[in-house]
Amino acid sequence: MNFEELVHAARTCRRFEQSRPLSAADLEWLTDCARVSPCGRNAQELRFVLVHSPEACAELFPQTKWAGALKDWNGPAEGERPTGYIAILMPKTANAIVHFDVGIAAQSIQLAATSKGWGCCIHASFNRARCPEILRVPEDMDIALLLALGVAGEERRLASMPADGSFNYWRDDAGVHYVPKRALEDLILETL
Ligand SMILES: Cc1cc2nc3c(=O)[nH]c(=O)nc-3n(C[C@H](O)[C@H](O)[C@H](O)COP(=O)(O)O)c2cc1C
Repeated sequence: MNFEELVHAARTCRRFEQSRPLSAADLEWLTDCARVSPCGRNAQELRFVLVHSPEACAELFPQTKWAGALKDWNGPAEGERPTGYIAILMPKTANAIVHFDVGIAAQSIQLAATSKGWGCCIHASFNRARCPEILRVPEDMDIALLLALGVAGEERRLASMPADGSFNYWRDDAGVHYVPKRALEDLILETL
């Protein structure tokens, strides 16, 4: 896969092959890709909590919220659930710029996962009251994003924006997931 193919393939994945779990070493490899990613001032303020045991995954899963746009789907069923999670933590007192670091780290992990045939769903929606306890988050840190991971178990495709301009993703009758993206000429305002 060249880079353009990788970045096109790196669509959010919400169904996984639960029977082929990721290992702790797999999650460490993904985190190492985040470790060397750019960050403001090179201050490296992010920290990570890795979850791979089936017990911990089972405890975390009910705390995550999936695919708000798919109204008739309640998230991955048993057998297609994530087999690993990486929580990206940032200090409670961090400068706002650290939010950019979080996004860059998340994208590094999503691209790295895609390069291995794994899938990733970045979560900003999760139970923020319960997860810090499950993940043993230090008092002075917040969970910025929670990344659900596993061997990819669903087909995802890029699509053009529909005529009505809706940016909602959808699935066809075969369960293929489509993600509409705006055309390049609609995004580039000027080339000076
Ligand atoms: C910051 C951020 C937070 C997200 N939070 C959730 C979430 O809580 N639950 C979910 O199912 N998807 C979540 N997503 C995935 C988005 O829905 C997804 O990126 C979007 O639909 C575009 O699809 P794509 O990633 O395949 O391009 C999140 C993505 C980002 C970047």
